[in-house]
Amino acid sequence: MLSTLPLTLIALLVLDVSAIPTNPPQGISMPLRRRVQSQSRSEDELAMWAKNQREGLMAKYGNPVARKRSTGTNLITNQGADSSFYGSLAIGTPAVSFNVILDTGSSDLWVAGNTCTTGCSSVQTFDPNQSSTFNNQNQDFQIVYGSGQASGTIATETVQMAGFSVSNQGFAVADQVSGGLLSAPVSGLLGLAWQSIASTRAVPFAQTLASGTAWDSPVMAFQLTRFSNQSGTQQLEAGGSFSMGFVNTTLYTGDIEYINMPTTNSYWILPLTTLTVQGNSISLPSGSASYAAIDTGTTAVGGPPDQIAAIYSQIPNSAPGTGNYQGYYTYPCDTTVTVTLAFGGSTWMMSPADFRLSRVGSGTCLGAFFSLTTGSNAPSWIVGDSFLKNVYSVFRFNPPSIGFARLSDYSLSMNGNLDIEVPSPTIGSVSVFATAGTVDGSNHNSGTSLRPPTFVLAIAVLIYAML
Ligand SMILES: *[C@@H]1O[C@H](CO)[C@@H](O)[C@H](O)[C@H]1NC(C)=O
Ligand SMILES: *[C@@H]1O[C@H](CO)[C@@H](O)[C@H](O)[C@H]1NC(C)=O
Ligand SMILES: *[C@@H]1O[C@H](CO)[C@@H](O)[C@H](O)[C@H]1NC(C)=O
Repeated sequence: MLSTLPLTLIALLVLDVSAIPTNPPQGISMPLRRRVQSQSRSEDELAMWAKNQREGLMAKYGNPVARKRSTGTNLITNQGADSSFYGSLAIGTPAVSFNVILDTGSSDLWVAGNTCTTGCSSVQTFDPNQSSTFNNQNQDFQIVYGSGQASGTIATETVQMAGFSVSNQGFAVADQVSGGLLSAPVSGLLGLAWQSIASTRAVPFAQTLASGTAWDSPVMAFQLTRFSNQSGTQQLEAGGSFSMGFVNTTLYTGDIEYINMPTTNSYWILPLTTLTVQGNSISLPSGSASYAAIDTGTTAVGGPPDQIAAIYSQIPNSAPGTGNYQGYYTYPCDTTVTVTLAFGGSTWMMSPADFRLSRVGSGTCLGAFFSLTTGSNAPSWIVGDSFLKNVYSVFRFNPPSIGFARLSDYSLSMNGNLDIEVPSPTIGSVSVFATAGTVDGSNHNSGTSLRPPTFVLAIAVLIYAML
């Protein structure tokens, strides 16, 4: 069973926010496994902060440390039997750590603020008054995702993750978050796509690191675990790892096959060129109608209604879902469904365990492919974790491309392994410092207005399937 609602955390640049219901149905909840997670700052952490502060100033004023390139790894947590995958970062001075969903389908960083009134109960929140580097931009923020929305205020802060520190990072402090978006211990979201779709307009954290001198190589990569078919799975399990500035050869085998992105840099996009179900090809359009967002923030895989229907027509006794499952399909759980995908290169197989999103009744399961309708300029497909758990995925900023490789035995051995400790947020030492561009990014031609583009919109997208 899904223990939390499947998420579709792709940013929607929408014309009419009111068209999107903000209260998705609640999922079934499972007891949280108790884990020791100290949130208080120790003297050690204060000492670390003092050290980082000094090194940051040295870096800023020309010390060679600023030229150092590096790599980092953030350990991921798998939440709700593969419903979402989160990592941790630290914000402010002194730094306070937060768990955030790692989302390649959007470009904004936000965390729930201490004045949050909706959708933040029982999650750890950020208190701007406790940080000496907080700089309020006094601009409204709103972002709409496939599964909800968040709004608040834009600010800049020092943000640290996996040994990297970016000062002056644009982000948002959220005071209203729609139900189901945040599930403790997650406090927010780190968008890992490109600046052009950032509602804050800020250069995203990862893009700053990739385009500057911080990372060894302009890549970030994911290994995501599977616990969905494992009995005894708790609400939180080890989720794999997020590599920054390098690819970790322990986690994949063979070559990484990179495919260049077909569009200008907004979402992480590839053309979906081939899709087979039980060995039979589904007919797919070509050109921009084939574009797929490769989205770690989405639980399953969304696609155009006709092609989703064609997928299920290959599965005997499957049927369109009703009620809360509208847009989804059910099928007999004892059918082993094998899907393969290709994006202009090799063919990648999705495990039948990932096709089976959830059991919804006796002998009846929900498939991982759901139907969605997007606007003409948005990607038609959203390829989320149900697929990404099957590959090592690499997001390369330069040249803009996405690579996949086969998982190593080491990575595969983490699937369903209940003995691996769930990572806890840590504020490690920082080895590389960078400074973000200002919130009023030069890529935007307005010069004066900092107003987020959410309502101004280029693209109309409506995703109904998850709602
Ligand atoms: C910060 O402190 C001031 C003064 O005590 C208070 O008025 C304000 O509400 C606080 N802001 C937050 C976000 O807690
Ligand atoms: C690569 O991944 C392995 C397994 O998670 C880890 O032990 C190792 O530290 C990682 N390498 C680097 C350079 O982070
Ligand atoms: C489900 O998980 C078990 C490990 O518990 C694994 O052996 C099995 O292959 C998985 N099933 C599928 C279809 O991947």
